[in-house]
Amino acid sequence: MELKHVLSADQFTRKDLDHIMSRSADMEDILNKGGSKLCNGSILGALFYEPSTRTRLSFETAMLRLGGNVVSETDVTFSSQTKGEVLEDTIRMVGGYADVIAIRTKTKGQAGIAAEYSPVPILNGGDGAGEHPTQSLLDLYTIIKHHKIGSEPLQVSFVGDLKYGRTVHSLSKVLRHYEGIELSFVAPEVIQMPEEYRKSGDKISYELTDEILQTADVIYDTRMQQERFEDQKMFRKVRDAFIFTPENVGLMKPAATLMHPLPRVNEIKQSVDTLSQAKYFEQAQNGVPVRMALIAEVLGK
Ligand code: NCD
Repeated sequence: MELKHVLSADQFTRKDLDHIMSRSADMEDILNKGGSKLCNGSILGALFYEPSTRTRLSFETAMLRLGGNVVSETDVTFSSQTKGEVLEDTIRMVGGYADVIAIRTKTKGQAGIAAEYSPVPILNGGDGAGEHPTQSLLDLYTIIKHHKIGSEPLQVSFVGDLKYGRTVHSLSKVLRHYEGIELSFVAPEVIQMPEEYRKSGDKISYELTDEILQTADVIYDTRMQQERFEDQKMFRKVRDAFIFTPENVGLMKPAATLMHPLPRVNEIKQSVDTLSQAKYFEQAQNGVPVRMALIAEVLGK
């Protein structure tokens, strides 16, 4: 497969997804053997203009485990953008220093703009309330590890802030490539899944019912994105809409998985972490092999 940039989940065909999943599994083997020198001499530029722990660190870890190096900018207040430099100029410059750029921006669509000006591949690490395509690939990798995706029916319920949460936008697109997946969107009306990500046949629910908990194979919970709400009163109204506790997670099938891109705030109690359904820390860990695969692919290695 030829992969130039990773900007949106729209760009992947089913064949691409199969290839990236198998390359990620190979990278996991390489990681377990201590890493490789595949990207020896290559540099990753990490430009993160919104808070990040997992995405930036797993991108950086991925490059280091491939034998490459990293330069990063993590706070816009220390960036020349504070002096008025436009993103296009920053990208042209960093593209002259690094061989690949992972970028997180505050505004939807900015990763695409970066790609227009970049001499090197751009990996979208989240563009505002838009998309988070590399996260959707590690989410898919995690689901494949625990479920027979594509060959039997799979009920996937997205729960939480589906309007501003970018991870569910990308993951819904990726999952539509597989037969037998039924998507349900569980959120208060004001933060329901935007129309552009919906398809006929999707189920919409405003409450997290016992039936959803009992029938879901995958529950993908998300954080209420306080920073993206225009109306903070509205945020306070919905912030505690759904809380996962050992009691309600106990209603889930033993083989079901509870996922979350993290960070969680109060939507999953820490007492849930030890239950067999809780897979969110493993999910975060999968970011390293999947991002190793993406870096190797865009660098043509
Ligand atoms: C998410 C993000 O930044 O979109 N985190 C992540 O990348 N793992 C989710 C969030 O911030 O709630």
